[in-house]
Amino acid sequence: MTDTQRDIGLLEPTPECRCNGTPPTPEQTEGPYYKPYTPHKTNFRGDVESYTPMVLSGRVVGLDGKPVGGALLDFWQVGDEGVYDDEGFRLRGHQFADDEGNWRLETVLPAEYPGRTRHVHVKVQPPGGEVLTTMLYFPGERRNRLDKHFRPECLMEVRETPEGWEGTYTFVVPA
Ligand SMILES: [Fe+2]
Repeated sequence: MTDTQRDIGLLEPTPECRCNGTPPTPEQTEGPYYKPYTPHKTNFRGDVESYTPMVLSGRVVGLDGKPVGGALLDFWQVGDEGVYDDEGFRLRGHQFADDEGNWRLETVLPAEYPGRTRHVHVKVQPPGGEVLTTMLYFPGERRNRLDKHFRPECLMEVRETPEGWEGTYTFVVPA
């Protein structure tokens, strides 16, 4: 067997093709901290006293790449202290994408907490569609490769600005 044949034997099968080649955002575990019936909220900063500001934004599109207007996005995360609010709805809230599928959340940088790399939880639901439960991650985090939940497909584009952190992500959902 040549090296080339050995290499061919190790290749992954070509995945099923989608209309525009964009795979859907992967489903990930909800974890133990989700709470339903969150308030409508696009700014989490009043929920905590000290924080590093972060703006998350992006779009929701279908498998055909077209915007999914009116999609529900329900976010939950930790702040500086690395703990979820189980009593109330601090750092928890939902919003709806606009007609062009755009969404935006003024929030705070989540800390790492034991066993997890830095992340933000979210549920995304197109109007009348299935709920996608997933998480968003930050590039360049040393614990990404140690976290068994980490999915590179769910890495945001992140940059630091004088005003704080900015993260962007496009959710791709069956719609
Ligand atoms: Fe979490």
